[in-house]
Amino acid sequence: MDGIITRLTAAATASAPALLLRPWRPADAADLVSLYQDEALRRWVSTGVHDRAGAARWIQDQQRGREAGHRFAFAVSEVQAACGEGELVGHVVLKNVTPGASSAEVGYWTAAHARGRGVAPRALEALTDWAFAAFAGDGLTRLELLHQADNTASCRVARKCGYALSSLVAAAPPAFPREGHLHARASHAVQVRG
Ligand SMILES: CC(C)(COP(=O)(O)OP(=O)(O)OC[C@H]1O[C@@H](n2cnc3c(N)ncnc32)[C@H](O)[C@@H]1OP(=O)(O)O)[C@@H](O)C(=O)NCCC(=O)NCCS
Repeated sequence: MDGIITRLTAAATASAPALLLRPWRPADAADLVSLYQDEALRRWVSTGVHDRAGAARWIQDQQRGREAGHRFAFAVSEVQAACGEGELVGHVVLKNVTPGASSAEVGYWTAAHARGRGVAPRALEALTDWAFAAFAGDGLTRLELLHQADNTASCRVARKCGYALSSLVAAAPPAFPREGHLHARASHAVQVRG
């Protein structure tokens, strides 16, 4: 599986560079620690990365998940014309992949300095297209996305990528402290922007 998913891309827009999605690697640990120095990220994402050792463990977990075939995490960077891969601007993940199961889950975050220019929706769109294509033979037909109900920015990303609101989810502290929104997109769904 790893051979066909080393890299994904998302096209540039009128105001933002193209995106490159590739597996996290150990050398990203220092950047990951810096990106997590952000209150919003710590607030909305249940996994905390507090120091270099924690970042290394988190990256190792992503590698193990990929090897086991149940979790496919991608570091997102903006492509720079001069030097190719630029600085890290986010993360997208396909998770809870189970052989034979019809559904799996997606997640994402964007670096604080890169928010508001469509990084998460473009990366999520690339991930979604890849996931449905790569796992069609395993019966994957539905992707789910869960966010806290008051995370309006995440709700916008879901809707922009055609993940319709499916149901309300009860709080489950401490990992999920307030009511949530479960969004879902079917493999045949037409993407709705706006
Ligand atoms: C939610 C998040 C991933 C959106 O990523 P993004 O790359 O900024 O996505 P977009 O550019 O499409 O912006 C989405 C919404 O964020 C809000 N937004 C816009 N600029 C913003 C900025 N500078 N800072 C924060 N939010 C901003 C807007 O409501 C926007 O919706 P709009 O396009 O309808 O105006 C990002 O805000 C984030 O990483 N938040 C912290 C972690 C998180 O919540 N992850 C999701 C957990 S379920």
